[in-house]
Amino acid sequence: MTSRDGRWTARVEYAGVGLGEEQFAATPFEQISRWVGEAHARQEEQGDVPEPDALSVATVDDAGPDVRTVLMRFLDPRGPGFVTNLRSTKGLQLRDDPRVAASLTWPSMFRAIRFRGVAELVDRAEVEVYFRQRPWGARISAWASEQSRPVAGRAPLEAAYEQYAERFPDHGRPDDVPVPEDWGAFRVRPDRVEFWAGRVNRLHDRLALTRVGPGDLADAASWELTRLQP
Ligand SMILES: Cc1cc2nc3c(=O)[nH]c(=O)nc-3n(C[C@H](O)[C@H](O)[C@H](O)COP(=O)(O)O)c2cc1C
Repeated sequence: MTSRDGRWTARVEYAGVGLGEEQFAATPFEQISRWVGEAHARQEEQGDVPEPDALSVATVDDAGPDVRTVLMRFLDPRGPGFVTNLRSTKGLQLRDDPRVAASLTWPSMFRAIRFRGVAELVDRAEVEVYFRQRPWGARISAWASEQSRPVAGRAPLEAAYEQYAERFPDHGRPDDVPVPEDWGAFRVRPDRVEFWAGRVNRLHDRLALTRVGPGDLADAASWELTRLQP
């Protein structure tokens, strides 16, 4: 909300529970999973975290940084992953330059997790398992949309949908629709992970993990924890 002179006036006190070093889980992966799980539970109980898996993903190309929101569809000790069209803008950017940053933000919980690292392609087998779980219409749209390319209007998009709906009819089976070749997933392999927990008077908690060894997020010895000033 802005006042008439254009200054930001709405102030929300960040009354979060914070995050202390003593509360930090045994491994980075456990801590990430805990917060993701609590965001899902909060949505189920209070309904104020509508997309707990919304993940902002930043890429870079010659024109500079770029950012968009996707849904986290994979999470394991290697890092968070998302599905997308591999020939989309982000797909092409990540193939040229795999450096990536991503952020899960849960404003109603005064929490965020921020990742920085490199993107890698998720194995085809894992992508296929996920694709088969998608509703039929979403699988058809994956064929119909040449994501990020211009289209002359809504009509050609809907025509493409109808064309693929006819080609791959809905028999209620997970293999009704094959995975399009251009469709896949990226995983963010982080070298840095930061947990932000909003607290009163803007004196927030920031605990950052930096990679100091070759292990994944389940290997505590590969990560060093540092508190940062808010
Ligand atoms: C809540 C939300 C969830 C989204 N989920 C995805 C997703 O999982 N995968 C995806 O490719 N795009 C998703 N999008 C659309 C992207 O934000 C973006 O428009 C699209 O991926 C094209 O981005 P690009 O041109 O940078 O490649 C989502 C958008 C929103 C707002």
